[in-house]
Amino acid sequence: MKRESKIKKEEDNIELEDRIEELEVESDSTLVRFDHVSKIFKNDKAILDNINLEIKKGEFVSIVGHSGAGKSTLLKMIHVEESPTEGSVYFDGVSLDMISRRKLAYHRRRIGMIFQDFKLLPQKTVFENVAYALEVCGTPKAEILEDVPQILDIVGLGDKMEKFPRQLSGGEQQKVVLARALIHKPLVIVADEPTGNLDPNNSLEIVKLLLDINKLGTTVILASHDHDIVNKASKRVVVLDHGKIICDDAKGKYKIC
Ligand SMILES: Nc1ncnc2c1ncn2[C@@H]1O[C@H](COP(=O)(O)OP(=O)(O)OP(=O)(O)O)[C@@H](O)[C@H]1O
Ligand SMILES: [Mg+2]
Repeated sequence: MKRESKIKKEEDNIELEDRIEELEVESDSTLVRFDHVSKIFKNDKAILDNINLEIKKGEFVSIVGHSGAGKSTLLKMIHVEESPTEGSVYFDGVSLDMISRRKLAYHRRRIGMIFQDFKLLPQKTVFENVAYALEVCGTPKAEILEDVPQILDIVGLGDKMEKFPRQLSGGEQQKVVLARALIHKPLVIVADEPTGNLDPNNSLEIVKLLLDINKLGTTVILASHDHDIVNKASKRVVVLDHGKIICDDAKGKYKIC
């Protein structure tokens, strides 16, 4: 009896240790966490309503939903362009609630943001557009000369470095935006309708690139209306409806439930 009780105790300890290890891995591997997040703009109805969402490092997550469902608002909170009215957003284990200005600049460099409207500098070449993102942070010239061509090769624009944005197709311009978003080696690419202005072929190329980047370990969070690219990705799909998460499928298809 005594021996049985000892074994039981040992088993309990092992279980406890396993659980602690699991919890440590869980907290380590979470990149973004929305904890009871609501957003209300100026006494209007809730645009986001008690959102609980966890995104692990290395995941590829598509956020879909009707126009006005709150997708962009959700993504802006990760970049701290909007803040929750209630609840908190955590990034890599740290609350973004009261982030200082100095930390905010560092935080934003860990996120590569991409929008529908490519905001490229028209007077600068492809190389210069990407290099500029490094110059403003005081990166040494030698590093810029090494890193920029590398990243442009990754997005398939190694031979277009001296072109100006007006000399590129929409798809190519969006690849420059992607290169610029990748140049700081971010933990996550947050893409809000990145293919909104592109034709189906160019859209597919962008999603393939996002999948490749994700394979190399970068987390990707994509808001999209585009059925084809969400289905092509065949990754986790989170459906937002009137500010609530109504579906969350590990290997989902585009759907608005
Ligand atoms: N700064 C703001 N002030 C007031 N209302 C806002 C603000 N930003 C967004 N909204 C409102 O919040 C709602 C959600 O907007 P959001 O841009 O997040 O939707 P969305 O799902 O990204 O839509 P879409 O698919 O059209 O891009 C909309 O009704 C919008 O009008
Ligand atoms: Mg939007």
